[in-house]
Amino acid sequence: MSENLDRFEIAHLARVELFSPKPQETLDFFTRFLGMYVTQREGQSVYLRGYEDPYPWSLKITESDQPGMGHAALRTSSPEALERRARSLKDANVDGTWTDDQFGYGKTYEYQTPDGHNISLLWEAEKYVAPPELQSKILSRPSKKPLQGVPVKRIDHLNLMASDVTAVKKSFERHLGFRTTERVVDGEVEIGAWMSSNILGHEVACMRDMTGPGGRLHHVAFYYGTGQHNVDAAEMFRDYDIQIEAGPDRHGITQGQFLYVFEPGGNRIELFGEPGFLHLDPSAETKTWEMSDIDTGLAIGGAKLPWETYFTYGTPNPLALDRHIEEYAHFGPGAAPAPEAADTDEPAPVGAGAPA
Ligand SMILES: [Fe+2]
Ligand SMILES: [Fe+2]
Repeated sequence: MSENLDRFEIAHLARVELFSPKPQETLDFFTRFLGMYVTQREGQSVYLRGYEDPYPWSLKITESDQPGMGHAALRTSSPEALERRARSLKDANVDGTWTDDQFGYGKTYEYQTPDGHNISLLWEAEKYVAPPELQSKILSRPSKKPLQGVPVKRIDHLNLMASDVTAVKKSFERHLGFRTTERVVDGEVEIGAWMSSNILGHEVACMRDMTGPGGRLHHVAFYYGTGQHNVDAAEMFRDYDIQIEAGPDRHGITQGQFLYVFEPGGNRIELFGEPGFLHLDPSAETKTWEMSDIDTGLAIGGAKLPWETYFTYGTPNPLALDRHIEEYAHFGPGAAPAPEAADTDEPAPVGAGAPA
């Protein structure tokens, strides 16, 4: 990670649209348990924000047949940066279009990653202004912390599943000025990359999609900033029958504290405690994890990230989550072939993938 003149061109992840086949239950999950505020309803969509999200929404839930990610939008650090990033994509013949059709945001450039994820770039964003009853006395806080569930502060990062991690990584590096802070390799193959445009460990991560066609969502993360909140949230999810996948624990990769759950619509959501290592060194080298050290990389405390979900399930997924778990429960690295490969000469997928 040598000189990168485009670093800081992207400021941060502003918003994500999630599809849900159970929109009311998904909405209940984000409002009742994670304390997010509803700011708008429009057609088959509901718009929400955490109490420290700066804009009118960071999460849009849209009813759909399948779970998955509609799009994710990154805000640039200036209007000129937006023009430069769009030009970089155009100069490389990446198809894109300008739009202006999202509540609370202005002119937006939409394109797809090499794996087909919908990414938007924008500068123009309204600042959220709370009604008087929701205004906080803490001046940097756009609205009061709600008295509801274990409330998240804001959206944090995105993790994409890709058939070709390196291609997606290079696209974020080349066109958006991201630098790769950490990565995982399985022999010669890059199977995970954590990418950042600021001092955080990642705003976007990418992991190899071993069971699907790529272009899928692995998870969206929401920020607590406090490890105890992950424990509090885990207790809440146990009591109220929200399916916990793994955690709370801390990754070696990024040093972020994680708790993974499935919202009722089937998308994986990460609750992010302490955000981990901050990348203040502008010339730091990318840290490369080998499979021999992957246990430390995945979870310092020894939490197991389940093969039958964490390394094989993304959204959209051919099977509903409960059926997927049944199908994949007896497969894994060093075990029998995964279901898709069972009738072919293809070897079983190897390598346990990587966390985020
Ligand atoms: Fe994670
Ligand atoms: Fe993550």
